[in-house]
Amino acid sequence: MIHIRFISADHTVQDLQAAPGQSLMKAATEANIRGIEGDCGGTLTCATCHVIVDPVWAKQLPPPVADETDMLDFAASPVEPDSRLCCQIQLTPDLDGLVVRLPAAQH
Ligand code: FES
Repeated sequence: MIHIRFISADHTVQDLQAAPGQSLMKAATEANIRGIEGDCGGTLTCATCHVIVDPVWAKQLPPPVADETDMLDFAASPVEPDSRLCCQIQLTPDLDGLVVRLPAAQH
C-alpha cells in the first residue's frame, strides 16, 4: 500500500493508504478525503482536484501535460509552482510517503 498525507489549509492532517494503479484523486475521493472534489471524474475538465505537492515529491512526478497546466488556470484557489491536478497523478509504489497540501477551496 502507498501512504499519502494530505495537509489542509487549516493544517488538518488526513492520511490515506491506497493501492497503486489508480489516480490520487480516485483514491482520495473513495476514502472521503475532505478537500478533494474530483467533480469531472478525472477527465481534466473541472480543476476541483487541485493539490500542492510537497517540493521534495514534486520533482519525482512526471511533469504535467499541457491540458493539465491549462486547466489549473481554472482552479478556485491560487496556483503555486508545485500545484497539480491530482487526477493526473498515478499512484506507483515509489510514491509511498507522498505529501500534498490542499488549497483553501476547490469551488
Ligand atoms: Fe476534474 Fe481532476 S477531477 S480535473
